Amino acid sequence: METTKKPRVLSAIQPTSIPTLGNYIGALRNWKNMSADYDCAYAVADLHAITVRQDPKELKRQSMQMFAILLAMGLDPEKSVVFVQSHVDTHTQLAWLLNCYTQFGEASRMTQFKEKSQKHADNINVGLFAYPVLMAADILLYQAHYVPIGADQKQHLEITRDIAERFNALYGNVFTIPEPFIGPVGARVMSLQDPTRKMSKSDPNPKASVSILDGPDVIVKKFKSAVTDSEGSVRFADGKDGINNLMTILSACTGKDYAQIESDFAGKGYGDFKSAVAEAVIAQLRPVQREFDHLMKDPAYLKQCALYGAEKARKISQRTLDKCLKKIGFWIV
Ligand code: TYM
Repeated sequence: METTKKPRVLSAIQPTSIPTLGNYIGALRNWKNMSADYDCAYAVADLHAITVRQDPKELKRQSMQMFAILLAMGLDPEKSVVFVQSHVDTHTQLAWLLNCYTQFGEASRMTQFKEKSQKHADNINVGLFAYPVLMAADILLYQAHYVPIGADQKQHLEITRDIAERFNALYGNVFTIPEPFIGPVGARVMSLQDPTRKMSKSDPNPKASVSILDGPDVIVKKFKSAVTDSEGSVRFADGKDGINNLMTILSACTGKDYAQIESDFAGKGYGDFKSAVAEAVIAQLRPVQREFDHLMKDPAYLKQCALYGAEKARKISQRTLDKCLKKIGFWIV
């Protein structure tokens, strides 16, 4: 990440459960694709995860699993910086500094804060409120030019830009102003049971989302029970949320555009179409699942990669943090 002059990329994912097909199509696939042309850093955002109560044993297991998934997807720990957020202490340090450059009003306007406050009304903690500031720190520490995310994180990217611009206006050009990178298809993969809502890891209905570790039989079943409509024709149109969502998934997995998919399924029923979507998803996920199983049998290797990633991440991020401390006027001894 330090030696070349390619544009820089940073993104992260919470280890709150196995990623869904939504996370995969909306974000993770782009991470892998971008790693060829950009200098990339990718994190398991475990510090973000504790804004909602987590079971300690599960958090630990899921953080390791998520790290293994990132490697299983094909991220190369030599080429990219792949790390766990809590292993690199610059993130919490910069987050504190940036808290003092973020307005209460702007943080209050975050849609995700409002939604999560409603969902976890018994635990509206300060961390949940400051969540986007930690995310800003993640991004700005690496001087990222692009941040591959799904549509739901766009507002957090906007506040990151606002914080960075405010800081730069006070102290000179400290931070690169990042831009969101949102893929052309699949930025918002919807629930299979209610296609007006996004597919989410936390959906209590197991049929609503596909986990990227689901086996072929489970995937076929979930797509079979996906909500569609009574029209019976495969076409992308207003009011056909279920079919639109399945077409998006098929398009993301096969590279075919909507017109091609419409012509492939002209005169065919939803049964055939759903089977084709399931098969395309199974084919996409199979190599990731195989590699994941293999990596989980080697915790020593995973630990070694995590240590290596953290070391590289610390080196890059420390430079930005030191610059900020100096600009603000801390007595550095
Ligand atoms: P998280 O863990 O909720 O989701 C990880 C990524 O998956 C995308 N995503 C989706 N994309 C398409 N369709 C969906 N149904 C769908 N659901 C989720 C999300 O947009 C995200 O890109 N706050 C972040 C994690 C984070 C981060 C960062 C991201 C922490 N620090 C710095 C970017 C940069 C989050 O909770 O993502």
